Amino acid sequence: MTDPTVPRIPLAELEAGVPFARRHIGPDAAEQAKMLAHVGYGSLDELTDAAVPDSIRSAAALALPPARTEAEVLAELRALAGRNQVLAPMIGLGYYGTFTPPVILRGVMENPAWYTAYTPYQPEISQGRLEALINFQTMVADLTGLPTSGASLLDEGTAAAEAMALSRRVSKRAKGGKGAKGTEGVFLVDADTFPQTTAVLGTRAEPTGVEVVVADLSDGIPAEIAERGVFGVLLQYPGASGAVRDLRPVIEQAHGLGAVVTVAADLLALTVLTSPGALGADIAVGTTQRFGVPMGFGGPHAGYMAVRDSYARNLPGRLVGVSVDADGDLAYRLALQTREQHIRREKATSNICTAQVLLAVMAGMYAVYHGPEGLERIARRVHRYAAVLAEGLRAAGVEIVHEAYFDTLTARVPGRAAEVVAAARDAGVNLRQTNADLVGIACDETTTRAGLSAVLAAFGATADIEELDAATGEALPAALARTEPYLTHPVFHRHRSETGMLRYLRRLADRDYALDRGMIPLGSCTMKLNATTEMEPVTWPEFAALHPFAPAEQAQGYLELIRGLEEQLAEVTGYDKVSLQPNAGSQGELAGLLAVRAYHRANGDTGRTVCLIPSSAHGTNAASAVMAGMKVVVVGTGQDGDVDVDDLRAKIEQHREQLAVLMVTYPSTHGVFEDNITDICAAVHDAGGQVYVDGANLNALVGLARPGRFGADVSHLNLHKTFCIPHGGGGPGVGPVAVRAHLAPYLPGHPLQPAAGPGTGTGVGPVSAAPWGSAGILPISWTYVRLMGADGLKAATQQAVLSANYVARRLEPHYPVLYAGPGGLVAHECIIDLRPLTKETGVSVDDIAKRLIDYGFHAPTMSFPVAGTLMIEPTESEDLAELDRFCDAMIAIRAEVDKVASGQWPAGDNPLVNAPHTAAALGGEWEHPYSRQEAVFPAGVSAADKYWPPVRRIDGAYGDRNLVCSCPPPDAYDD
Ligand SMILES: Cc1ncc(COP(=O)(O)O)c(C=O)c1O
Repeated sequence: MTDPTVPRIPLAELEAGVPFARRHIGPDAAEQAKMLAHVGYGSLDELTDAAVPDSIRSAAALALPPARTEAEVLAELRALAGRNQVLAPMIGLGYYGTFTPPVILRGVMENPAWYTAYTPYQPEISQGRLEALINFQTMVADLTGLPTSGASLLDEGTAAAEAMALSRRVSKRAKGGKGAKGTEGVFLVDADTFPQTTAVLGTRAEPTGVEVVVADLSDGIPAEIAERGVFGVLLQYPGASGAVRDLRPVIEQAHGLGAVVTVAADLLALTVLTSPGALGADIAVGTTQRFGVPMGFGGPHAGYMAVRDSYARNLPGRLVGVSVDADGDLAYRLALQTREQHIRREKATSNICTAQVLLAVMAGMYAVYHGPEGLERIARRVHRYAAVLAEGLRAAGVEIVHEAYFDTLTARVPGRAAEVVAAARDAGVNLRQTNADLVGIACDETTTRAGLSAVLAAFGATADIEELDAATGEALPAALARTEPYLTHPVFHRHRSETGMLRYLRRLADRDYALDRGMIPLGSCTMKLNATTEMEPVTWPEFAALHPFAPAEQAQGYLELIRGLEEQLAEVTGYDKVSLQPNAGSQGELAGLLAVRAYHRANGDTGRTVCLIPSSAHGTNAASAVMAGMKVVVVGTGQDGDVDVDDLRAKIEQHREQLAVLMVTYPSTHGVFEDNITDICAAVHDAGGQVYVDGANLNALVGLARPGRFGADVSHLNLHKTFCIPHGGGGPGVGPVAVRAHLAPYLPGHPLQPAAGPGTGTGVGPVSAAPWGSAGILPISWTYVRLMGADGLKAATQQAVLSANYVARRLEPHYPVLYAGPGGLVAHECIIDLRPLTKETGVSVDDIAKRLIDYGFHAPTMSFPVAGTLMIEPTESEDLAELDRFCDAMIAIRAEVDKVASGQWPAGDNPLVNAPHTAAALGGEWEHPYSRQEAVFPAGVSAADKYWPPVRRIDGAYGDRNLVCSCPPPDAYDD
């Protein structure tokens, strides 16, 4: 019976469900109203109308498809996934099938405790991932035979480019003078290097005046090249063809020329081959993808670099080191952190900021899971597969080009390569067609006997695998057999059972503070919701298991998703064309600046090399400009935090003829909507320059304003901020570059996948190893846009602005808020100034950041962009209760500072300077002038939900003075 008192809801409405935007945006309507009242506005529109200058505001709504429900979008994703075809991936070139142990797949890759963490700048609450990264570093150092490894780079190609830059910095040859022909010297690359690596090297070399010379070095360095000032040499080991060569003679010869030698090495091969270090190499680079990280159509994976001792302080990217805490107990931290965090601006040695932490954790855990014997067994199996194939092919009269190989063969089939590759494809296997006569075949951990038979059949051979195996010997050169031990540390032996592994992963995750525990209010980092629906497709095999160089017809679902996301982002930003290739914001910056450079050159403006950058800019901006061959000229910041327009106009005038580009962050790095941005853009254009808007802060603009329409020519976005890709503890990221039409011909291309570039032959060469960079995580951002629709995206931005202003208003009576824009409003973040407090009481930014840990929070961004301040970005995803919990904690801390100021607590012994407090600290004698209760359960902290930091405050300087960057021996943990 129908109850007439219950209103009847139409079916269509019942089917619509709760819009996803309501799940993504933390505060509900009632909370929003409360916050608006606190800030003094009647509606979100009223607030953002007041905050965002008229001159930049978009009149029209974004032209995006309407929001869909989670169920609908998952169904769409399933349909796209169904249009990808997963074949046995025997293409090689640095990407291999791998079996991700499910305990790692679910325990790390699909676990928000790992993927929602931030970069471990607050080491006391990051001990779990720091330990995982030190495992990674130890694994890389052991296998490469070089003592110091970094904590991950973006991919193999860019790691090689970083090695080139490092070689140039440290080589005697480069210091001794310029190379021949007016270049800055020659970087010599062996012809048997992965083609994408050589292409990335080319992109990175040209603007800095380095000449990349590619030559066959199998018989040594030709004399005519040796004479040209070679500062560095890169050798692939094993080569792209699969050949395994003894590199010792060429390394010796290169050293004789004063060159630094880099070996790009396959880590699995190194379990059975002499290490690059033992061969004499100075640097080893590569990828750790095949250590359990899905190919994902190109990424994300962790690149690596390991170096000889004397280069440790020159390493690009992050380095985890061992130090001690306030009790003298062992603790991990980012070593040489100041150097890394500031990226040394125009004196930068690299622009790497976001790297590939989550994937490095996975690769390190793969080594923990298998241990040295397990890895060697996989390597021997993979090698046997290759040997069995070689035997079967030779028996059928097919020439195998190299005698010595590890996992990859090159087979010579004159004039028949295309036919063989097509036959293999029909049988479900992708091979590599090197040219008309040569076919490359790479075996991996996922190769099967059925796969081998299919390959043999494609060549017209039939064979019994069992018989071939019995007849097959080793094809690894005896002189290169590995004798050096590796992975001897107990961590690589202790967790062999799944129970043991599960608990190890859980134990490390429990030490860390990630978004699954509470708010991470990091200014300039946008730590917002990474929704589960967005994350789900990433590990579906149809997205995860595609080789980046698989033929386009097998990747139709991916290509549709990629084109769709490019179009969505073009619409959101107001630009005409987007490239998703850059795999971090820094790489997007480089790609954008290279496009500007190419545009000026195409117009004959070769002298336009000056890049104007405000002093408040993120360090990567200046570093990228230098890498793009530009000269950085710094523009001052006014008292109000805005770009100093008078100084800017003066610098434009001064460099009128040389002006290439102005690089400016909008909203500003100070979290303010500057209202003169359109005038600034016009002034730069008037002088013949281009405008680069750093779009890392796009979370304040989506749906409200579009940089491509308010005067800018180019931007990069950080999808790992605004578009919900999780931070992964310091990566992965995606940094698409978006341009106006006149710059579109100069977007990055790719030698193995023309469809990834502008297709006009004018592209600038790849900035990442894979055609679409970290394609495997693009479904996250695509899903976010589909779930939110135009209205949801705009509402998210408006809420982000409201939340920042709410926090600013709540904290203002207790801490001065630096900088505001129109109407006294901030944008999506605010800076609170602690300098007066520090001056008055001695309580530092560090003390407050560490005290926040006792209150159960991750600190805001410290001392960026202004030293002695905290920059808070609450994002739209935090609900009012969490925002209030944070504000209450900050206010309670302010009251604690007052107790220090009044002398109630001595300056040298109070809960602030002693923070954070561990559970262990409660156990012994308690001789502080405050109670245990005040130490660990200050106002608002529930005993039941308490987050306990595993270590006390870490002594950073100690760790830098005593640089130790691999797993400490077990007795180091003894009391
Ligand atoms: C304003 C700004 N620009 C550029 C970057 C660099 O991005 P990525 O770390 O992805 O290289 C960041 C990173 O935090 C940033 O905040």
